[in-house]
Amino acid sequence: MTEKLVLAYSGGLDTSVAIPWLKDKGYDVIAVVLDVGQHGKDMKAIQDKALKVGASQSIVIDAKAEFAEQYVAPVIKANMMYEGEYPMVSALSRPLIIKKLVDIAHENEAVAIAHGSTGHGNDQVRFEAAIHALDPEMKIEAPIRDFQWSREEEIEYAHTHDVPVPIDLDSPYSIDENLWGRANEAGILENPWNQAPEEAYAITTAIENTPDDPSFVDVTYSKGVPVALDGEEMSLADLIIKMNMIAGSHGIGRIDHIENRLVGIKSREIYEAPAAAVLMTAHKDLEDLTLERDVAHFKPMIEQQLANLVYEAKWVSPLFDSLMAFIDDTQKNVNGVVKMKLFKGNAIAVARQSDNNSLYDEDLATYTSSSSFDQEAAVGFIKLWTLSNTVYEQVNHVHSQKPVKKVNI
Ligand code: ARG
Repeated sequence: MTEKLVLAYSGGLDTSVAIPWLKDKGYDVIAVVLDVGQHGKDMKAIQDKALKVGASQSIVIDAKAEFAEQYVAPVIKANMMYEGEYPMVSALSRPLIIKKLVDIAHENEAVAIAHGSTGHGNDQVRFEAAIHALDPEMKIEAPIRDFQWSREEEIEYAHTHDVPVPIDLDSPYSIDENLWGRANEAGILENPWNQAPEEAYAITTAIENTPDDPSFVDVTYSKGVPVALDGEEMSLADLIIKMNMIAGSHGIGRIDHIENRLVGIKSREIYEAPAAAVLMTAHKDLEDLTLERDVAHFKPMIEQQLANLVYEAKWVSPLFDSLMAFIDDTQKNVNGVVKMKLFKGNAIAVARQSDNNSLYDEDLATYTSSSSFDQEAAVGFIKLWTLSNTVYEQVNHVHSQKPVKKVNI
């Protein structure tokens, strides 16, 4: 009996030529594609294509809800931004894809899992690290990396094996997308001095063409996760998809990032992540209102650790779980509404409120005479706050003249 293999299929040329190639190698190929909110993709057509080019089974899984709730929600709660710029788009879907593929492999008694990543990127590491974590005995096939086809060889192979070659093949870009954003690299983007042409973007409008009037959207959060837009409750996946449309039309969420890959290469990436720009800005604003100061100052250190772990293929790790437990605890009071102004590429928090968790006390903050803040308490506090520095300066006179006679502090 031929051995079964489960392929992470996308419908593109790379994973399509992989099917006859893996069959030639003796595998019975089960193609699996996850719907994680790829923009404008016909999942049925992708499913049919896999069968047409030789898969024995072709499975489509609608994973949008799970992706949003289990993978995107932690990113929002932890404000995860790799190198302060990249909201983790592709890094997030890989562990979920593998989780599903390993389950399908076990159900079908498959011996191997295949992916279509090349050998210079992060995704190969994420796919394989996840496979090792979930089933270290599973064999891994990486035809695109192993074979190192040139584009011409790949097309030649496609022709001789009846794999349809898309007409827009000269589209030079390498694109990966899900509902949290779209990543585009390769082609003329590889020269960082080339400005990204308009055609490199798909889900955002150029600022030159955005509306001359702003949109305002109220985003409601519960425990740090967005739950409603303008008071209308919806699932996180629907909320993100809707926000992508609204914010994308205002040109929000374009990111041009020279990024440090895990494998040591710098790469130039063009991202579009409109919903991420709005929802993470609003989330941070609500944290400003609801997190106690020490927590607010400490949390970014954890956030950065988490962003690095996710980017660097360590979604399945005890450190990730422990740090997320800390993040989840901080989010219990992050409840409320933020009013976002969307205009000409900007997502700006312009108002916020939290009925039960706001730490902002107008009585304490006001500049009017009605303030309940005890101003006299400030005098002694300030004296003690910097007493050690005062003592040091009086002994060493780094910034001051040495007095003729000793002064009393
Ligand atoms: N550099 C990003 C990451 O490692 C995105 C890679 C996405 N892949 C692509 N073919 N554009 O997460």
